[in-house]
Amino acid sequence: MTRHFLNLSDAGGDAIAAMLSDAIDRKAARAGMPKGATDKDAPLAGRTLAMIFEKNSTRTRVSFDMAIRQLGGTSLILDGGTSQLGRGETIADTARVLSRMVDAIMIRTDDHAKIEEMTRHATVPVINGLTDESHPCQIVADLLTVIEHGVALPGSQWCWLGDGNNVLHSIIEAAGLFKFDVRMGVPEGYDPDPRFAEAARRNGATITLTRDAAQAVADADVVVTDTWISMGQAGGEGKLKAMMPYQVTAALMARAKPGAKFLHCLPAHRGEEVTEDVIDGPQSLIWDEAENRLHGQKSVVLWCFGMLG
Ligand code: CP
Ligand code: NVA
Repeated sequence: MTRHFLNLSDAGGDAIAAMLSDAIDRKAARAGMPKGATDKDAPLAGRTLAMIFEKNSTRTRVSFDMAIRQLGGTSLILDGGTSQLGRGETIADTARVLSRMVDAIMIRTDDHAKIEEMTRHATVPVINGLTDESHPCQIVADLLTVIEHGVALPGSQWCWLGDGNNVLHSIIEAAGLFKFDVRMGVPEGYDPDPRFAEAARRNGATITLTRDAAQAVADADVVVTDTWISMGQAGGEGKLKAMMPYQVTAALMARAKPGAKFLHCLPAHRGEEVTEDVIDGPQSLIWDEAENRLHGQKSVVLWCFGMLG
């Protein structure tokens, strides 16, 4: 069976744990090597990943490219605007054609149904590089980052402040797989899709939603936020105003556990979802988190090729 990675539960908790452990080992094994040098075992020699971008990207694009290089393979990029996808060629036909020429496909797109459609027609692994619904690769990096900084996942308390978006959906999914709790401080009208919390609760995680930011952050081990206006969303003064009480400030961080970690997938909007003193302060792990996109990506791709888990 072809392994696709559309959401974290496609792999499951055991496989994600194997990915995290492999990422930690690979990261340590190449300490001090030039970033463009190949890992000693070059497990993806001869393999090519095609990356389709229908939305902008810096981290996902560079981390997948460098991940494949370090694993000994190659990658190529198709962007929505200059490929035939942008002129209306179907996802199904694109999937069929790319499957004849490359070994795996990564796609960043809007509607999650498009990536599901791609898996129905691709005969090679398809990886979700972000949809409006979820961002699983980001959360592999986030888990890796907090583990490296001493957080034991089971039983840990995570707080999300701001918009109920794609990144939050994948955090909730991870909570179900690794048995940690998520308390969400989200303004009315911007709640996450309840299906994610329902599934996580069935897996034993405690997922709660409050309108009170101070209550959401109380005693948290990890505090996470993201842009208030995701790619493709309409913004507007109304939304910014509704979000303002959920801005991650030093005063809110002080209500979390001493030494609580701050995460943000980036790009950030300092002065909107987070203040400068928090994102650039000692509790912020954002640069490790960004670097870990590279290390996490490698294990996602290896899992897709059946080399892990
Ligand atoms: N965090 C993240 O996915 O960043 P990019 O949009 O730059 O890829
Ligand atoms: N929620 C953001 C994440 C960007 C990496 C977006 O979808 O734009």
